[in-house]
Amino acid sequence: MKEKILVIGASGQIGSELILKLRANYGSEYVIASDIKVPDYEVMEGGPFELLDILNKTQLESVLSKYEINQIYLLAALLSATAEKYPEAAWKLNVEGLLNVLSLCKPNGIEKVFWPSSIAIFGPGTPKENTPQNTIMDPDTVYGISKLAGERWCEYYSRKEGIDIRSLRYPGLISYKSSPGGGTTDYAVHIFYEALKHRAYECFLREDTVLPMMYMPDAVTATILLMEAESKNISIRSSYNISGMSFAPKDLAHEIKKHVTGFTCTYKPDIRQELTTGWPKSIDDSIAKQDWGWKPAYDLPLMTKDMFENLRFGKI
Ligand code: NAD
Ligand code: SER
Repeated sequence: MKEKILVIGASGQIGSELILKLRANYGSEYVIASDIKVPDYEVMEGGPFELLDILNKTQLESVLSKYEINQIYLLAALLSATAEKYPEAAWKLNVEGLLNVLSLCKPNGIEKVFWPSSIAIFGPGTPKENTPQNTIMDPDTVYGISKLAGERWCEYYSRKEGIDIRSLRYPGLISYKSSPGGGTTDYAVHIFYEALKHRAYECFLREDTVLPMMYMPDAVTATILLMEAESKNISIRSSYNISGMSFAPKDLAHEIKKHVTGFTCTYKPDIRQELTTGWPKSIDDSIAKQDWGWKPAYDLPLMTKDMFENLRFGKI
């Protein structure tokens, strides 16, 4: 059967890029964008769009039936820093929103679901280097707790109801098309804009905070690779570890100096520093490599060069 895809949270950092690739691959009329927020011009004009609140199950069911949807990409969530400010809203959106989708799959003929988890499901007890797929998971942030609960629900629905649910534990994502939406790794996007505007940036994380990160083109590629892999090759129904690169703010600042003469970075850690204490420094993604051929294309120098090329000649 032809894919008929609904992307929920299509106006966000990932959605606004992923949807362009999905429309290019499957045809614009087969990929419906939805969000509570109107998307940018490219997404709005490029195909169907619906204003949809994931917490409104009736509205969700009517969009599923209107377009005869059979696949869902659920991207709506509150990210780590915002979730810490609004814990109840984060639990509601991140967990109840997911349950709304999962519970409507079987009655509405939804065969396949993509839902992203995060490196935030790991916690203080987790080994920090080359963090394994299965290890201690004791998240101590609202966001991490909600994502770990989400992983368990994905595996449960996949086993109990036979829904083909697939998921990735995205690292911090870096992109130039859309602003990041309230995460702790957002510094790695803001720094580029400030470098171009002011040749200076004050980072809200400590200079030596190494975290797993990924450039958006790799994140989009990984998502499509996973979703197009044969079902028999998917051995993990909670969420796959995936890795791109790992760096600290001082490593990124050093790389940026090669492109922006006189750039300086200062460090003034705030509450977001605490959120990273349980998060890994690097990720073992050998199962993703083995199961569906994952391989990142961008390292720190390549990503930095590409960001500047696009920001200088594109939006800024
Ligand atoms: P984002 O905040 O940029 O976008 C989320 C979108 O969801 C927004 O456009 C927002 O308007 C929409 N939304 C909020 N409430 C909604 C509701 N009730 N109904 C429908 N839409 C609603 O987030 P993102 O960075 O694009 O992240 C997408 C997913 O990837 C999230 O699940 C996030 O946890 C996960 N993730 C992101 C990163 C990252 O670095 N960006 C890393 C790991 C995991
Ligand atoms: N990039 C995300 C955040 O910082 C991690 O999932 O919230």
